[in-house]
Amino acid sequence: EQNHRESLMIVSGYAAKFFHESLLDTDEGQNIGLSYFKERGFSNDTIKKFELGYSPDQWEAFTGEAIKQGYQEEYLVESGLSVKRDNGSLYDRYRGRVMFPIHSFTGRVIAFGGRTLKSDKNVPKYVNSPESEIYHKSNILYGLYFAKRSIREEDNCYLVEGYADVISVHQAGIENVVASSGTSLTVEQIRLIGRLTKNITILYDGDAAGIKASLRGLDMILEEGLNVKVVLLPDGHDPDSYVQKFGTNAFKTHIDQNKKDFIVFKTDILLKEVGDDPIRKADAIRDIVESIAKIPDFIKVELFVKQCSSLLAIQERSLLTEVNKIKLGKQ
Ligand code: GTP
Ligand code: MN
Ligand code: MN
Ligand code: MN
Ligand code: MN
Repeated sequence: EQNHRESLMIVSGYAAKFFHESLLDTDEGQNIGLSYFKERGFSNDTIKKFELGYSPDQWEAFTGEAIKQGYQEEYLVESGLSVKRDNGSLYDRYRGRVMFPIHSFTGRVIAFGGRTLKSDKNVPKYVNSPESEIYHKSNILYGLYFAKRSIREEDNCYLVEGYADVISVHQAGIENVVASSGTSLTVEQIRLIGRLTKNITILYDGDAAGIKASLRGLDMILEEGLNVKVVLLPDGHDPDSYVQKFGTNAFKTHIDQNKKDFIVFKTDILLKEVGDDPIRKADAIRDIVESIAKIPDFIKVELFVKQCSSLLAIQERSLLTEVNKIKLGKQ
């Protein structure tokens, strides 16, 4: 079983090297893949560090070479790099895409995300590796291998949505950044971060989906006993587009000026939605109280109740009663 996993990691490592060399050393890779990455503002060092690559736009470029090099079909298929046709022959899963290898905590390549270069709405933007014995996507954070030292040093972890966000933010010198790429945030992913720091800052896309995901992520993080802050980006921007367009300093300033404690973030969002209607306001307050009730630590609960009380102009005692009702209901 250990050998089986090792074989899958070896073939994945080989594939990363194949895609990386195809990006840097072939005409097709340079003209299409490398120029795409350059246009996105990724430097040579960044491309090397993250082992970015390009998959040739052919049916069997990778599979054919891998077989020639002696890699077994079993592992090519199980890793998801090759797909089996009905007649038993294999073809490449990734064709004509720029490639983002996904690394394990210890830096082994275990999976890939491949981005299309077409703007055709019928083509999926990203194709990801299927689940395998080495890749359980709910347990993996993209970028964690490159971020872990900085997460410990800064005692904080930025959580973003996508591959490009991790890479651009990292390139800007903020290295404590990871993405839950390709899945909505899971409890396992939060626990993984929790081993390095108790502080998470959510930095999702500045659109309705990003706000919704932030609210959901915030509750999950609180429930795991970690501290959470949220930075909202201007509508239409994600961390990658913001830092590439406005630069590192503007990005850092935006974070400093817009970093909100979860209570303030949630209060702002919810109260904006409800306006002056007292019944809807009561619902919103109850929603905020539910978040506070998720915090396991009672001292923190009391501090957040204080903060909430002054933000909402509701007596502390009323809020605390509601929090306790929810907490007791759970036992
Ligand atoms: P860019 O357009 O390259 O900047 O990507 P993005 O990261 O900004 O994409 P987006 O905000 O749309 O999605 C965030 C993340 O969700 C991506 O990085 C992917 O990990 C994942 N994702 C997006 N689209 C798809 C898709 O079509 N299929 C799958 N499996 N995952 C996707
Ligand atoms: Mn197996
Ligand atoms: Mn998005
Ligand atoms: Mn983006
Ligand atoms: Mn995005």
